[in-house]
Amino acid sequence: MAITHPSFGTLADDRIIIFDTTLRDGEQSPGFSMNLEEKLRMAEALWELGIDVMEAGFPIASPGDFESVLSIAKHFAKDGPVVCGLSRTAPADILRAAEAVKPAARKRIHTFVSTSPLHMRVKLRLEPEQVLDLVTSSVSLARQHTDDVEWSAEDGTRTDPDFLCRCVEAAIKAGATTINIPDTVGYALPEDMHRIFTMVRERVPGADRIILSTHNHNDLGLAVANTLAAIRAGARQVESTINGIGERAGNASLEEVVMALRTRHDAIATTNNIVTERILKTSKLLATITSFDVQPNKAIVGRNAFAHESGIHQDGVLKDKSTYEIMTPESVGWSNTSLVMGKHSGRAAFRDKLKGMGYEIGDNQLNDAFRRFKDLADRKKVVYDEDIAALVDDEIVRG
Ligand code: KIV
Ligand code: ZN
Repeated sequence: MAITHPSFGTLADDRIIIFDTTLRDGEQSPGFSMNLEEKLRMAEALWELGIDVMEAGFPIASPGDFESVLSIAKHFAKDGPVVCGLSRTAPADILRAAEAVKPAARKRIHTFVSTSPLHMRVKLRLEPEQVLDLVTSSVSLARQHTDDVEWSAEDGTRTDPDFLCRCVEAAIKAGATTINIPDTVGYALPEDMHRIFTMVRERVPGADRIILSTHNHNDLGLAVANTLAAIRAGARQVESTINGIGERAGNASLEEVVMALRTRHDAIATTNNIVTERILKTSKLLATITSFDVQPNKAIVGRNAFAHESGIHQDGVLKDKSTYEIMTPESVGWSNTSLVMGKHSGRAAFRDKLKGMGYEIGDNQLNDAFRRFKDLADRKKVVYDEDIAALVDDEIVRG
């Protein structure tokens, strides 16, 4: 059934809302804090990337956080993503979030409370019925300030299923238009996600009228897999961060989720507004601002994501890139495939490399140069263009 949402109107059945929380959950990772100017630069880049909702911060957390959310909301006063502020259930939290997002053309308050037995007993020291009351009161108050309200069941994947359904029902009745079921501690397996989202859709009255959202942490390295499993079970909003930054092992990485959806459209047919060619640029901006590089083997945006060193792979890629690439580097912002010259490289890649560097040499010279290149590659981790140039120049002189 088509859903009509206050911020997005009537949504096509296959449309996935991309909710970016780089500036909130992402910024919560140790060492990743950003100043106001940096947050504004990131906010603009995220909007250009095509995200739908920007969680700009947690306004009650500090005066600085309030200022950043307010400034981002002002920045998007005429047009922009839905600007979202996080709040707990206390009225002061909700009012602070409401004040911070107010100037935005489209605004959301995202209120949350823990629902798992462990969190309710140890962290909140509340009985389940008291938590249920907080769900209703917090969502109702938020709804007085905007008609776009998201409610999250913190530690939702470790919550008793019956209680989770009661909380979701209470939040919908109080006016929530998005219901988020986070895997706060990255504990769930893909099959758990599928079961939980299917259960909520089947059991909770009104669940077909709201957007179900998935928010996954990466403690077991399953955040992206869990996100995809939730989508297959009916989640329509994905919460993620650029480069997967976030608490502890991070959140589901936006670029990985989006490219999985694009690349495997045959298996999960959905649409979103992300301009994938801007992914690398956005990732690099975040890395520069936070001074944290992504690891070389990071999917999509790591420097090795489209680099091939082994001779067999290089030979395949030179014949047809699709032999070893499931998406084009250009589709995510890289300028090209990179053939890295190292000890695993083959003669075909070596010849191609020389050609690219402007050398046309005969077969005998090529054989000698290739042998000397292999000796060098055994001694050096990476063989640079200058090393190859020196080697071939020497060969030409000797030849
Ligand atoms: O991980 C989590 O549970 C959160 C909530 C505040 C949505 O970040
Ligand atoms: Zn989180």
